[in-house]
Amino acid sequence: MHFSFCFLVTFLVSYVGAASTFSPARPPAIPLAVKSPYLSVWLGAGSDGGNGGYLAGQWPTFWPGQISAWAGMIRVDGTVHTWMGLPGTNTVEQVAYEYTSTHSIFRMRVGSMVEMNVTFLSPVTPHDLRRQSLVFSYLDVEVASLDGRPHNVQLYADITAEWVSGDRNAIAQWDYGVTKGDVAYHKIYRQTQLLFSEDGDQAEWGEWYWGTDNEKGLTYQAGADVDVRGAFTKNGTLANSKDDNYRAISSKWPVFGFARDLGSVSSTANVLFSVGLAQDSAIQYTGKVSGTTAEPSLWKSYFSSGTDALDFFHHDHDVSSRLSRELDRQIEKDSIAAGGQDYMTITTLTVRQAFGAVQLCGTSEDPYIFMKEISSNGNMNTVDVIFPAHPIFLYTNPEFLKLLLKPIFEIQENGKYPNSYAIHDIGAHYPNATGHPDGKDEAMPLEECGNMVIMALAYAMHAKDDAYLSQHYGILSKWTTYLVQDAIYPAHQISTDDFAGPLANQTNLALKGIIGIEAMAAIDSRTGHEQSASNNSRIAHDYINRWQTLGVAQNARPPHTTLSYGSNDSHGLLYNLYADRELRLNLVPDSVYDMQSTFYPTVKAKYGVPLDTRHQYTKTDWELFAAAVASTSTREMFHSLIVTWINETPTNRAFTDLYETVSGNYPSGITFIARPVMGGAFALMILD
Ligand SMILES: *[C@@H]1O[C@H](CO)[C@@H](O)[C@H](O)[C@H]1NC(C)=O
Ligand SMILES: *[C@@H]1O[C@H](CO)[C@@H](O)[C@H](O)[C@H]1NC(C)=O
Ligand SMILES: *[C@@H]1O[C@H](CO)[C@@H](O)[C@H](O)[C@H]1NC(C)=O
Ligand SMILES: *[C@@H]1O[C@H](CO)[C@@H](O)[C@H](O)[C@H]1NC(C)=O
Ligand SMILES: *[C@@H]1O[C@H](CO)[C@@H](O)[C@H](O)[C@H]1NC(C)=O
Ligand SMILES: *[C@@H]1O[C@H](CO)[C@@H](O)[C@H](O)[C@H]1NC(C)=O
Repeated sequence: MHFSFCFLVTFLVSYVGAASTFSPARPPAIPLAVKSPYLSVWLGAGSDGGNGGYLAGQWPTFWPGQISAWAGMIRVDGTVHTWMGLPGTNTVEQVAYEYTSTHSIFRMRVGSMVEMNVTFLSPVTPHDLRRQSLVFSYLDVEVASLDGRPHNVQLYADITAEWVSGDRNAIAQWDYGVTKGDVAYHKIYRQTQLLFSEDGDQAEWGEWYWGTDNEKGLTYQAGADVDVRGAFTKNGTLANSKDDNYRAISSKWPVFGFARDLGSVSSTANVLFSVGLAQDSAIQYTGKVSGTTAEPSLWKSYFSSGTDALDFFHHDHDVSSRLSRELDRQIEKDSIAAGGQDYMTITTLTVRQAFGAVQLCGTSEDPYIFMKEISSNGNMNTVDVIFPAHPIFLYTNPEFLKLLLKPIFEIQENGKYPNSYAIHDIGAHYPNATGHPDGKDEAMPLEECGNMVIMALAYAMHAKDDAYLSQHYGILSKWTTYLVQDAIYPAHQISTDDFAGPLANQTNLALKGIIGIEAMAAIDSRTGHEQSASNNSRIAHDYINRWQTLGVAQNARPPHTTLSYGSNDSHGLLYNLYADRELRLNLVPDSVYDMQSTFYPTVKAKYGVPLDTRHQYTKTDWELFAAAVASTSTREMFHSLIVTWINETPTNRAFTDLYETVSGNYPSGITFIARPVMGGAFALMILD
């Protein structure tokens, strides 16, 4: 009793006076190292388990929530303070947190003596596949005297073996070395490698590297948490030793520490760390005619080993951070120009999340991009997940969209999928892109046929690549045949919002199909199929006229589209309207856009506009699609509601795309975390 009371007091005391600012917002979870489906470490901030966004005082987690312990301590004039994680309870004071598209920056104070800037950078270099292929992230710690007097400073950081497997009973093994470019590193891996396997969504194969400059004053130690952290706490240095008792991750918790004695610090000093994963083989794939292949990580085309990759990455910090800062500035500027400050707050929070769900694989001559449907079910290159995400890829580099669609086309064009409609995904669970040769994938026929036709045209328009349309003309025509059959009266089926259940005659789904037919007419024209173009366009125009009677509640005040035909009391986000504007088709009359812009404000709740009348929850990505084609005032309403949600949501995992519009929490039983679909925030950015 007495003990826990004391603990509580200590805990509270350590936060008194430690109010940090958060700019441009306090996200539900702060991205720390977010670079691929397997390098995805966050700091929970929302009140459902998070501490409000303070780096010290709680452990960073892998995206689903299990701890990926990452510890930081600083010793100033002999007194030890924690600046990251929870290795000790005497925490530094965090004064500010700021995020940009690629950076998370914490400013901290150690009493009135020392100032620290702790910067996490997960580089995004969309035009540089070599750099983008590296599954590595930076942690840069800058230290300066705050009171003008020199202080004796030692800096410490470690990671634990929790990073290398989701199974805490798995045996970890480790090694220590120095690269030829003088980067000191701990290499940590699962002793028994389980190729292409996951546990708790963590990769059960590959080697983790945790490195820093091998400079004067560096010491290292691998061993039990209490020993290694204890050595630093007591001495400010580590033993330069390695405990060779390879053991279970949770057995006397092995940790991998570095300490740097910065000596007497008066102006500024810094220590740079790199952390990442090296897997030679990344994906199991069955799309090639030749059969099953083990697709290498793309970085293997540029670097011969994990240590070479680490060496390059670590020494590339100047270039890589400059490229990332350029991207940060571009996104900031374009977002503010397109939608203002609130919009920028949203877009910049989605960049690492969207790029962190994909992995560059294959070879430099034959590259692929694979995407994980993170958290919902792990499907690979899910067509209706790529679709909501695709705006961010068109904005940054259309080549990314092409490489994401490549295995989807390949599997179907090589005759490895039996259905007449488009496949839903290329494999039931990452990293096995083993397709669905039995045709028993999650059937979303109308949705995926529409998505494929729309995205093929969108890519070709952005990349000015009509040859791409000719190359895939046959299968795009086949999918359009399906749209022509099903789009006007959609059969009882699920849409992409499968969690909401199946329904016949879905107004929004029909619209996707109809726009898909008009998109095919544009593809026909671009590939010299004029007769087919006029035929498809005639059908699309006929359908869209009929759709305006079937799918609109004309007598409602104000009128609006329905969730399904004839259900005049129902409504929903008409997010599929977006593609009409994106592809500059002008198929849907302006009156429909205006009607929806007038309607949405009448059904908004505290944190958003519900997805449809079946539930109070909404989809963040679809709100942003609807906002992108709404009037200015309605668009700003959507952005403002979402920013309010970001700042106030109790959720404490990476930016969800599914939340309750009244409570701001996850809907009961459905927790969507870190999904790439949030790249859809860029929908507005790619409109003219
Ligand atoms: C931290 O960042 C702020 C703002 O950029 C800067 O003024 C300050 O000098 C930095 N401090 C250190 C220790 O680098
Ligand atoms: C991928 O397939 C392999 C068999 O080839 C299997 O051992 C592994 O568990 C699968 N991975 C996942 C995540 O399902
Ligand atoms: C501190 O350093 C001394 C001298 O190198 C060493 O004997 C001692 O074991 C260290 N303490 C810890 C806790 O590692
Ligand atoms: C779809 O709507 C049409 C027109 O209202 C109706 O005739 C048809 O029965 C509906 N289909 C289903 C499956 O409910
Ligand atoms: C026009 O479309 C209809 C319906 O898909 C199809 O039966 C017909 O063959 C098409 N005609 C041409 C010239 O493409
Ligand atoms: C729905 O409204 C339309 C007019 O927009 C009307 O023709 C139709 O009868 C109404 N349906 C029902 C079920 O009330």
